[in-house]
Amino acid sequence: MSNNQNKKLYIETIGCAMNVRDSEHIIAELKDKEGYHLTDDAKTADLILINTCSVREKPVHKLFSEIGAFNKIKKEDAKIGICGCTASHLGEEILKKAPSVSFVLGARNVSKITKALHEDKFVDVGIDYDESKYVFGEFRSSPYKAFVNISIGCDKSCTYCIVPHTRGNEVSIPPYIIINEVKRAVENGAKEIFLLGQNVNNYGIRFSDKDIKNIDFSDLLEMVSEIDGVERIRFTSPHPLHMDDKFLNVFASNPKICKSMHMPLQSGSNEILKQMKRGYSKEWFIQRALKLRELVKDVHISTDVIVAFPGESEKDFEDTLDVVNKVRFEQMFSFKYSPRPFTKAAAFLNQIPGEVGSARLKTLQDLHTNIIDEISYLQKGKRYQVLFEELKPDGMIAGRSDNNFMVQVAGSEQLLGKIADVVITNPKRMVLYGELVE
Ligand code: 5AD
Ligand code: SF4
Repeated sequence: MSNNQNKKLYIETIGCAMNVRDSEHIIAELKDKEGYHLTDDAKTADLILINTCSVREKPVHKLFSEIGAFNKIKKEDAKIGICGCTASHLGEEILKKAPSVSFVLGARNVSKITKALHEDKFVDVGIDYDESKYVFGEFRSSPYKAFVNISIGCDKSCTYCIVPHTRGNEVSIPPYIIINEVKRAVENGAKEIFLLGQNVNNYGIRFSDKDIKNIDFSDLLEMVSEIDGVERIRFTSPHPLHMDDKFLNVFASNPKICKSMHMPLQSGSNEILKQMKRGYSKEWFIQRALKLRELVKDVHISTDVIVAFPGESEKDFEDTLDVVNKVRFEQMFSFKYSPRPFTKAAAFLNQIPGEVGSARLKTLQDLHTNIIDEISYLQKGKRYQVLFEELKPDGMIAGRSDNNFMVQVAGSEQLLGKIADVVITNPKRMVLYGELVE
């Protein structure tokens, strides 16, 4: 450990839950091995890290203006490091364009953060490195909710997606490492375990220990649920292709598993799904979602949708609207297709004009806003279990129901970290307001 115990770290995290967890790992390494402490004031930091995302183009563009802005305010000898998916995809180019940057560390190389810090102009963005058995120190942003990685990388080759290029092939983390981490989190007060991976329900596809065999995601869910102290389990992201009956049945029957499922649709058109290489059809997707609704009362289904993928016709887009109408997702994240480097679809010749994409995005979002309003209205009178996590300034306290609705009730800090029953009395689009059940 370094002698200087007062060094300050400022870290900015963009992107998915995986990136949030990578930042927590980076913070743990720098605390334990280098004596850093977190600060939320970049001006006083000795090290400024940007943990980036490259799934769409916007954050990548923003990176260089952000580096410029940090340069203006940082202490003279403070270092700037770039981590995460944009670090992976731009690599050396970042140092060329922004000479003030001290190191570039890819999303598959998080455990090398201390090495990066001590080597001049360090760049490592390799995607073959196997971090699946590296045990990171303990740092968690939330005292009640613990992110736990169950795999690294992604084995799929969706033609729009840069992630396999930034995070490499999929390797599952051995179950004993996951179980130990869950136990440690629970001992430190976590109530909810959030299992993370690019394709969680493909778990067990490959381990770096060849002798670990015959364990899939459903088995892992059961193992985690048997750990004393685990009250709730969530996970993201599952892939619709791997939503077999075994998985849906474990999801439905295990009382510790929160009744909220992310089902990234991407498109409702069979032709576009084929071009995207998603591996499932519109019919399979609808059938799985409706089966889920049949098995689990009040299940919350969220989705990701991309509009204006190359070649998407009006008819293809209508198929997407049709699935949204049939499944009636409780939550939808929707994006206009953004061509990404190293992806197959970026080279497709039938790209869709930007204004067509914007119009489709609006149509889709308007449709979904109506659906959300109807769904919210129907929540009146329902009773949900809520884990309270955040005090609001106006005497309210906020948390998530087990089926992932944002709920607020009047209450004090005594409720923080507690799970309590709430009846919804005043549902709004973004928040369901309710009352505690005594
Ligand atoms: N363009 C637009 N959206 C994308 N996503 C992934 N790649 C792209 C892209 N090239 C979306 C997908 C994914 C979510 C995390 O981001 O919907 O599920
Ligand atoms: Fe997460 Fe993908 Fe963004 Fe990387 S590119 S941070 S994996 S969403």
